[in-house]
Amino acid sequence: MITIALPKGRIAEQTLEIFSKAFGEEFKFEDRKLILEKHGFRFLNVRNQDVPTYVMYGSADLGVVGQDVLEEKPYDLIKLLDLGIGKCKVAIGLKKGDKIDWTRSSIKVATKHTTIAKKFFESKAMAVELVKLYGSIELAPLVGLSDCIVDIVETGETMKQNGLEVGDTIMQSSAQLIANKNSYYIKKKDILELKNKIEFA
Ligand code: PRP
Repeated sequence: MITIALPKGRIAEQTLEIFSKAFGEEFKFEDRKLILEKHGFRFLNVRNQDVPTYVMYGSADLGVVGQDVLEEKPYDLIKLLDLGIGKCKVAIGLKKGDKIDWTRSSIKVATKHTTIAKKFFESKAMAVELVKLYGSIELAPLVGLSDCIVDIVETGETMKQNGLEVGDTIMQSSAQLIANKNSYYIKKKDILELKNKIEFA
């Protein structure tokens, strides 16, 4: 049995579609169920940011997670494959018409991606005051909680509809297939076989 942690939502659905193609049968979570067992696989439906935790502790052998999440903390994991889904970028968002004044010594940034944001501004010799949020990040500059945001941009529609403009791109991201180190050594043959099937699906 191989256990795979998937991030709730679109990436989980797209990953299960890849499995459906690869194995010629339907893989789908039932209603509110958080576990799906089929064809020798056990899928866990977890929060995006929790995927590396399940894999690192070995509760899942494999996981699917965005590169942006992996950049946030130093996880001790094996990266097996870029799945080419969940493509997006991490970028700066500013109130329409606003510009970052790079001559300033510090800036207040609202974000879920605190490590990525801190590294980016510090590389520009700007001190950062981080405001950690867990969602609806686009609101922060509109209500004076921050000067700008650092957030995921896929189509740019959320920023646009909330009166923000997409600024500098900090990094590109896409969904990665990751593995627990012990699982990889113990189940190497099965994991590599699965990786090949997925690559060709
Ligand atoms: C992300 C991000 C933006 C939105 C961007 O949110 O935080 O709000 O997607 O997508 P767009 O550029 O296509 O409009 P997500 O759906 O992951 O929800 P969350 O903020 O609650 O995690």
